[in-house]
Amino acid sequence: MAEKSFKYVIIGGGVSAGYAAREFGKQGVKPGELAIISKEAVAPYERPALSKAYLFPEGTARLPGFHVCVGSGGERLLPEWYKEKGIELILSTEIVKADLAAKTLVSAAGEIFKYHILIIATGSAVIRLTDFGVQGADAKNILYLREIDDADKLVEVIKGKKNGKVVIVGGGYIGLELSAALRINNLDVTMVYPEPWCMPRLFTAGIAAFYEGYYANKGVKIIKGTVAVGFNADSNGEVKEVKLKDGRVLEADIVVVGVGGRPLVTLFKGQVEEEKGGIKTDAFFKTSVSDVYAVGDVATFPMKLYNDIRRVEHVDHARKSAEQAVKAIKSNEEGKTIDVYDYLPFFYSRSFDLSWQFYGDNVGDAVLFGDNDPASPNPKFGSYWIKDGKVVGAFLEGGSPDENKAIAKVARVQPPAVNLDLLTKEGLSFACKI
Ligand code: FDA
Ligand code: NAD
Repeated sequence: MAEKSFKYVIIGGGVSAGYAAREFGKQGVKPGELAIISKEAVAPYERPALSKAYLFPEGTARLPGFHVCVGSGGERLLPEWYKEKGIELILSTEIVKADLAAKTLVSAAGEIFKYHILIIATGSAVIRLTDFGVQGADAKNILYLREIDDADKLVEVIKGKKNGKVVIVGGGYIGLELSAALRINNLDVTMVYPEPWCMPRLFTAGIAAFYEGYYANKGVKIIKGTVAVGFNADSNGEVKEVKLKDGRVLEADIVVVGVGGRPLVTLFKGQVEEEKGGIKTDAFFKTSVSDVYAVGDVATFPMKLYNDIRRVEHVDHARKSAEQAVKAIKSNEEGKTIDVYDYLPFFYSRSFDLSWQFYGDNVGDAVLFGDNDPASPNPKFGSYWIKDGKVVGAFLEGGSPDENKAIAKVARVQPPAVNLDLLTKEGLSFACKI
């Protein structure tokens, strides 16, 4: 089998890979030096589009419209861009074996790739209900969403089940974004999740009450405090019913599952240090193995601001960590140094006419401010998180670009706030004056 050799190889062709390629382009890369090896059949794209406009019946997003780096307002890197730069895009190629000591990767088809420097950017895989043996979970039309092929499958099934019934399993990011997208497609949507309120990883009960109310007004039914324990299928093997732990049975033509992700690190098990489920890196995304970097969802990195080490599964970090790693690689070659990664966590989501942003850390006491009436024509509300007398996190629904900038600044500056009643009263104006 043919063997190919590159100075730099990025394994994975998602968000981080795309932003890393752009940074290599900026810093200077010679033709033939860099290869991106991706399981997916398309050049790197902005993954967040898949759970939003990709699924809309109108104003639909399709490639090449959302290749990186349009999601952050940057240049769109079409396949031709890689060709012009001499960056090899090796698509539809899954790496099944990685030998970090021998600096060798092997694809499912048996191709061998050698590298001098490796960037691991394999992202996450969805957790499947079949992983924990949920009865009937392999029925047809029980769908997941991670990659563009999954989204295409979903689009096809939505078209075939007009006005059908959908059950969404999970109340996190996928659950909230997909239930909105499918409702916009005029499907009958019911969400099911085990927690007392949606998105408990981030939302307080007060924040969640707004979204649950808003979704209910849009016709999304919500069943909390229980899980799907089994599925019944028809004679074609297509899902027909969802059995809940509390005994209820829901009709379903489509089931979408969003019960979390798992960083894809199995290829490197035992070869590199891991921490918190990811590959441990330093502030330059260098792993414990020399010449091997890890970025995006798979990296567990030092979060300078909180003097902690963390893993982040969001697009802003995927972009920035990739840029940091490439800058570190290039500066190292030139005998120079760069600043350590000093990341301020930034998460966002959009659904229906809503849009929120969150910056910082959601720890300590939370206060809620603003108009959080789900029936309000222009709801605008937020939360601050206060720890040790300082504001450490801020959330805002419906903010303008300037207001979002203001809450980002609050989370970075961490101003003191002793009187929580006053903070609630001041609301957004507190952030705007920092
Ligand atoms: P990413 O998943 O982007 O890329 C990994 C790539 O590696 C894929 O191309 C995969 O095929 C490939 N790969 C894996 N194993 C391989 C192997 N063995 N061989 C070859 N290739 C391999 N975040 C946010 O902040 N706001 C948002 O709105 C959204 N929305 C959103 C929607 C959906 C549907 C998903 C799934 C995720 C989001 N996210 C998000 C999260 C965000 O997209 C995510 O954190 C980044 O895509 C992570 O970037 P990575 O490059 O680490 O992985
Ligand atoms: P998540 O961790 O956000 O949510 C998982 C949810 O699954 C939990 O909140 C819980 O409600 C539910 N759950 C867990 N076990 C369950 C069970 N047995 N039955 C029913 N529900 C169960 O994960 P996700 O929503 O699947 O998202 C997957 C990945 O994609 C994550 O990395 C996420 O960050 C990313 N993503 C991010 C965005 C965004 O940032 N806007 C959007 C989409 C996806």
